Amino acid sequence: MAEARTIGSLPVANVQALAATCNGLDEQVPERYLRTEASSDEIIAGDDSGSAIPIIDLDKLLDPQSLEAECVKLGSACQNWGIFQLVNHGVPDEVTRNLMSDIAEFFKLPLEAKKECSQQPGSLEGYGQAFVVSEDQKLDWADMLYLQVQPSASRDFRFWPTHPASFRHSVNVYSSEAAKLTCRLLEFMAKGVGVEPATLRGVFEGQGQPQGMRVNYYPPCQDADRVLGLSPHTDPGGLTLLLQMNNDVQGLQVKKDGKWFAVVALDDAIIVNVGDVLEILSNGKFRSVEHRAVIHPNKERISVAMFHNPCQNLMLGPLPELVKGDKMRYKSTSYQDFLIQYFTAKLDGRDHLERLKLE
Ligand code: OGA
Ligand code: NI
Repeated sequence: MAEARTIGSLPVANVQALAATCNGLDEQVPERYLRTEASSDEIIAGDDSGSAIPIIDLDKLLDPQSLEAECVKLGSACQNWGIFQLVNHGVPDEVTRNLMSDIAEFFKLPLEAKKECSQQPGSLEGYGQAFVVSEDQKLDWADMLYLQVQPSASRDFRFWPTHPASFRHSVNVYSSEAAKLTCRLLEFMAKGVGVEPATLRGVFEGQGQPQGMRVNYYPPCQDADRVLGLSPHTDPGGLTLLLQMNNDVQGLQVKKDGKWFAVVALDDAIIVNVGDVLEILSNGKFRSVEHRAVIHPNKERISVAMFHNPCQNLMLGPLPELVKGDKMRYKSTSYQDFLIQYFTAKLDGRDHLERLKLE
């Protein structure tokens, strides 16, 4: 969402408020939220050990005894799934707890108070929705709060909640932890594919480590099987770190080999996924995972995606070191153009990436 400031979304109803009406009074869910694909896709349960997404242990990556084996595991997770759960990630419990509790407070505020952070026309930053580009498109059953977090000079506090008062501090603390962790992971990922770690890190560190935070609020829905919280998509940037509020409501699903897999987040794990920029830079050695979020019939769910984005002026194409001995698998494009394409269309799974492929 690095281009959040120049690209807007058509205004639509506040879903938290709509859900309160529908769920309380047995009103029908409006047609624009009902989709056929939500109930017809086969879902592979994530709790069956054979089908669960990979688990990577940062302690094992930091221990010279286990580094090599864990690095192989990490490489394979990034290549085959594009997503993994990271345990022993080193982000203090208190940091994620404070963040989530401040975010939960914000969503409990009356609508009018939340609207003080509303998006402005032509921008995706703030409280509202993204990716609504036409009046007849199906809508997601969720509200979001998007904030540009790094570089710190780019923060626009008009969109930052002032209640609870600790919100800014909590985001700030988590932001540094997430950035530090992302750097470490990129280093191990680079090693895994034989790229100089500094080359890969440099793409993301050059301009103050751009970071954007998208908070998703998914209200419950009586018609949960017929709506989607977040349409199938890939994340456009580098690495995304995803936290969810509590693990008794799951909702994330990822697509692999044409099938949807439910992700069962472990307590104390951070979910890490690969975005488009890393797939392209790695010449396809890392996979930008297609994912979506589904809705619970009677429980809300809140998630926080921290996106780590490259420098704005990046010419996006496979890293030369990774094309040697292979063929160039993606067209090069300016990152700016890539983002404009991404944010002016509705979410479309991996189609925008497939169009850049050179096969
Ligand atoms: C996102 C995202 C998934 C979730 O915000 O990009 O994919 O589980 N969120 O909320
Ligand atoms: Ni996403």
